Parts: sequence; C-alpha cells; structure tokens
Amino acid sequence: MSDNKYDQSFEVLEKRELVSNTFHFVIHAPLLAKKIQAGQFIIMRPTKISERMPLSIAGWDREKGTITVIIMSAGRTSTEATAKNVGDCFEDIVGPLGKRSHVTKFDGACVVIGGGYGTGAVIPTARDLKALGNRVIGIVGARTKDLLIMVEELEEVCDEVILTTNDGSIGVEGFVTTALEQIMEKEKVSFTIAIGPVPMMKAVSDLTEGKEIQSWVSLNAIMVDGTGMCGACRVSVGGKTKFACFHGPDFNGHEVDYTELMTRQKMYVEKEKLALDAMKGQEA
Ligand SMILES: Cc1cc2nc3c(=O)[nH]c(=O)nc-3n(C[C@H](O)[C@H](O)[C@H](O)COP(=O)(O)OP(=O)(O)OC[C@H]3O[C@@H](n4cnc5c(N)ncnc54)[C@H](O)[C@@H]3O)c2cc1C
Ligand code: FES
Repeated sequence: MSDNKYDQSFEVLEKRELVSNTFHFVIHAPLLAKKIQAGQFIIMRPTKISERMPLSIAGWDREKGTITVIIMSAGRTSTEATAKNVGDCFEDIVGPLGKRSHVTKFDGACVVIGGGYGTGAVIPTARDLKALGNRVIGIVGARTKDLLIMVEELEEVCDEVILTTNDGSIGVEGFVTTALEQIMEKEKVSFTIAIGPVPMMKAVSDLTEGKEIQSWVSLNAIMVDGTGMCGACRVSVGGKTKFACFHGPDFNGHEVDYTELMTRQKMYVEKEKLALDAMKGQEA
C-alpha cells in the first residue's frame, strides 16, 4: 500500500466469514471513506475481467481510510469477490453512488429492518437516525439462528434489536413483519427502512401502508453504470420511471412496483448461470 493518502489500493485489510458464503470485508479506500454517507453504495469489479457489482456499505472509518462491505456469493462476480483474501486487491471500486438515506427527527420510533447483507446496509442509516435523537429499533430476520448476521454491530447503533427466525430457533418466530407488527401495537412508529430480499421489503411496505409511517426500501435493481446513463436499473415508483442508482437506491416503499422489479431482476438468469458454469469450468 502506498503512503499517498489519495491512493486507493482497494486492498483487503480484513476478511471474516459471517455465515456460509457471506463475508465481511474491510477494504482500503480512503477517498470513498472520506465522502460516503448512509444509504449510498459502490460498484466494484473484483478482477480485470469481472462484471460490475453494486454493493451497499456497512460502515467506514474516515481516519483509517477504510470501508466495510458484506458480500454474499450469489453468482460469478460475487464469487470472484469473495475469493479475495487479506493482502489481495479488488480491481476497482467506484463511488459513492446514489443518494443518502432520508433521515430526520421523528415523533415516533424508527425501525430499521435487515435481511441477509441488508443487515449491514441498514447500520449507517440507523447510526444517523440515532444521532438525530430518534428512538431506533432494529429488526434482523433470517430462516434460522445460524444465518443471522451483524447483530452485535447493529446493537451498537440501536436502542433495541429484535431477532426473528422463521423456525423460532431464536427470538420472535416468524418474519420481520411479525416483530414490526408487535412494535406497532406497543408504540408509535414514524419511520421504517427495510433492506434485503424484495419480498421482505414489499411485506414491510404492505404492513405500514396507510398508517402514517414513512416506509423506505433500498432497491437492488440490476445495475450497470450506476450513474443514471444506461437505464438498466429502471424501476417504477409512484407511476413514474426512476433509476434506482441515481434517484435512489432508497425509495418510498408504498410507491414501488415490486412485480416489475422482480421480473426485471430475473431477466438474465440463464446468462448468469452460463457465466457461473463457465467460471467453474475454468477452475476444474
Ligand atoms: C444498490 C445495490 C446494493 C447491493 N448491495 C449488496 C451487498 O451489500 N452485498 C451483496 O452481497 N450484494 C449486494 N447487492 C446485490 C449484488 O450486486 C448482486 O448479488 C451481484 O451483482 C450478483 O452478481 P453475480 O455475478 O455474483 O451473480 P449473478 O449471476 O449476476 O446473479 C446471481 C443471482 O443473484 C441475483 N442478482 C443479480 N443481480 C442482482 C442484484 N442487483 N440484486 C439482487 N439480486 C441480484 C440474480 O437474479 C441471480 O439469482 C446489491 C445490489 C444493488 C443494486
Ligand atoms: S445502472 Fe445505469 S441507469 Fe442505473
């Protein structure tokens, strides 16, 4: 690594496996660390021949010049990324991209909800909400207790964190919405942000609809350039076409056309499978 503070090596400084196929990386990226704000994202190319992969930011250290990301191996590019070890460098990272999360001081509680890598992504927004004097409650959901990630890190920035598992192995049995419903019965909720699988974000939006709750979701549309130029991440919000990378990634969850989002996410499934098979073939 060079001594020049403006040189971004994108070197992996720390790597930790959180659960099978999901890794926590601390990366040298001082320019990014200096500018990034809650809710924004980056686009990474793990190697020279990799595709561009959008990633949320789970944290940063402006002094040390590092950013933290959580990467789940889903296909070829994410597997190329999770194959990197301490001392290796990612080819390039661009960002910060997108708009920062919409936070302010609310009357009622703010509930931040994470599933999978989304649990890391809600941490910076939770920290901002807390700094504004809000009561912040976290909900982390997974199928079973061994798949819950980033709980301690979320606890550091929330007043309370509730765990939910589908099989009841820890915390509330059910979905993140089961816990959210219980909170809404007990106290006034003014704000929610949900980051994770689309069905989870849709379920949170459905539950909060018509209840005077600002309900934000971070849309993981397929992206290419990440700057609003290519149109790949087109989503319909409130009947209007928006670009998730430029106008978002956070949007009012009550206005998102989730059916269109899920259909567009599946556009390249066959090609994605071919790319992964080709990579496995090269390794064999
Ligand atoms: C704003 C944003 C933030 C993201 N943050 C993170 C993060 O912090 N950590 C993380 O692990 N992943 C994150 N993702 C998803 C990540 O970018 C995709 O998983 C990755 O691009 C898949 O590439 P691949 O080549 O590994 O898999 P592919 O072979 O391209 O796809 C494998 C599987 O992942 C699905 N997929 C592909 N692209 C996306 C996408 N953009 N969103 C959701 N599913 C997708 C495909 O439908 C397929 O089922 C984010 C996506 C966006 C748009
Ligand atoms: S990724 Fe190209 S417009 Fe959003």
